[in-house]
Amino acid sequence: MSAPDVRAFTVGPVQENSYIVRADAQASSAVIVDPGDEAERLLQAIAALNVEIEAILITHCHFDHIGAVAPLARATGAPVYCPEIERPLLTQIMDWVPPGFGPFESHEPEHTVSGGERLSLAGLDFDVVFTPGHSPGHVTYALPGALLSGDVLFQGSVGRVDLPGGDWPTLERSIGGLLAAYPPETVVYPGHMGVTTLGRERDSNPFLSELRARVPSASTADSPAA
Ligand SMILES: [Fe+2]
Repeated sequence: MSAPDVRAFTVGPVQENSYIVRADAQASSAVIVDPGDEAERLLQAIAALNVEIEAILITHCHFDHIGAVAPLARATGAPVYCPEIERPLLTQIMDWVPPGFGPFESHEPEHTVSGGERLSLAGLDFDVVFTPGHSPGHVTYALPGALLSGDVLFQGSVGRVDLPGGDWPTLERSIGGLLAAYPPETVVYPGHMGVTTLGRERDSNPFLSELRARVPSASTADSPAA
């Protein structure tokens, strides 16, 4: 299967990445991942691409990833897939938004996910992978060659673990699981900052030095000194 067509839109004061994902650039249907803010701009992008949104996928329910879920769901009629144990953050959104942000509108998700599901949407098969650590219910949506991975792994960094439910050993395990399950050329579409690949982060991300020692890269595995 060829690589999906993924369009990034960086939205809101926290500069969160929302993604419109299609099977290819001609596809007439798409999903949107983590519509965090700027609903009008995202709806204009959907209209400009001339796609029907089949689903709204949420990696985790920090406000910067879900602020535009309700208006997008209303405008597109698309069902929302929400991490199961983070559902209360979406249904009572303003209880969790820090002062100075929002207001945002709550939404009752049509579906919940907890990892292990396969979602066939917009001509794409998404595997839902449980990747907690940044938040307790965080999931990654995996396609052949691409990961929509929210705040798990960034270019040269990782998701913060100092928010409620965050835990570094858990996040490190989640990242190790992705490195073990997917090839190094897999493109990582993160919730903040630029696009990267699993292999690039495996080899150079300063937060992954202990993981590197346990999961040798191709270059170190080939080295007689390793
Ligand atoms: Fe987050």
